[in-house]
Amino acid sequence: MLEKSKVLLEESRKRRTYRSFLPDPIDMEVIKNCVLTAGTAPNGADKQPWHFSIVTDPAMKQRIREEAEKVEKKFYDDMITDEWRADLAKLSVNHEKPFLTQAPCLIVIFKEQYRILEDGTKDKNYYVNESIGISIGMLINAVRNAGLASLTYTPAPPAFLRDLLGRPEGEVPVMILVVGKPDPDYELPKLRKKTFEEIADII
Ligand SMILES: Cc1cc2nc3c(=O)[nH]c(=O)nc-3n(C[C@H](O)[C@H](O)[C@H](O)COP(=O)(O)O)c2cc1C
Repeated sequence: MLEKSKVLLEESRKRRTYRSFLPDPIDMEVIKNCVLTAGTAPNGADKQPWHFSIVTDPAMKQRIREEAEKVEKKFYDDMITDEWRADLAKLSVNHEKPFLTQAPCLIVIFKEQYRILEDGTKDKNYYVNESIGISIGMLINAVRNAGLASLTYTPAPPAFLRDLLGRPEGEVPVMILVVGKPDPDYELPKLRKKTFEEIADII
């Protein structure tokens, strides 16, 4: 038990967010297994309030990139606060998102707030934010476990993704998980993870 917990800790410490990827295609079976792993997440009343749109088509990736860069330009020009800009400085990010066309696979993740039933009534879901967060965490770990890198990319605002991917009104896009082999030339930002004492106490 102790050994297994140590192994997962060491493996998890190696996970980092990449913002540059190799274009090599990925076996779709690997992606499917990762998404199915995400689908095992605990969730409110077992409504499983999620949808994963897996995008590998270059034309769709290009459209997503164009729309994302439009909203990002507006975000960085007009919406971002000085405090947020300062916090992002260490990550060297800007409105350009080349990884959206460079990476072989984009998993666009939607949270399902409700579903419209055949009689027109709404079938509501519960604890949707909590459930989707847990599911995405499991997806990220599954992708890491498969030997791939990922980026949790959150265009602000992300609403354009629902129209582009033809998802129903009860679903809200949460993020794009960009997945691919890590670019060995990408310089990872130097970050320090908090210690146990900083993030926890034992009562
Ligand atoms: C909810 C969420 C949203 C994020 N959005 C972005 C984003 O839009 N662009 C980006 O480059 N990184 C984004 N990140 C990645 C974080 O910047 C990154 O996880 C953090 O700096 C820690 O680095 P690490 O993942 O390498 O440990 C996001 C992460 C999370 C959890």
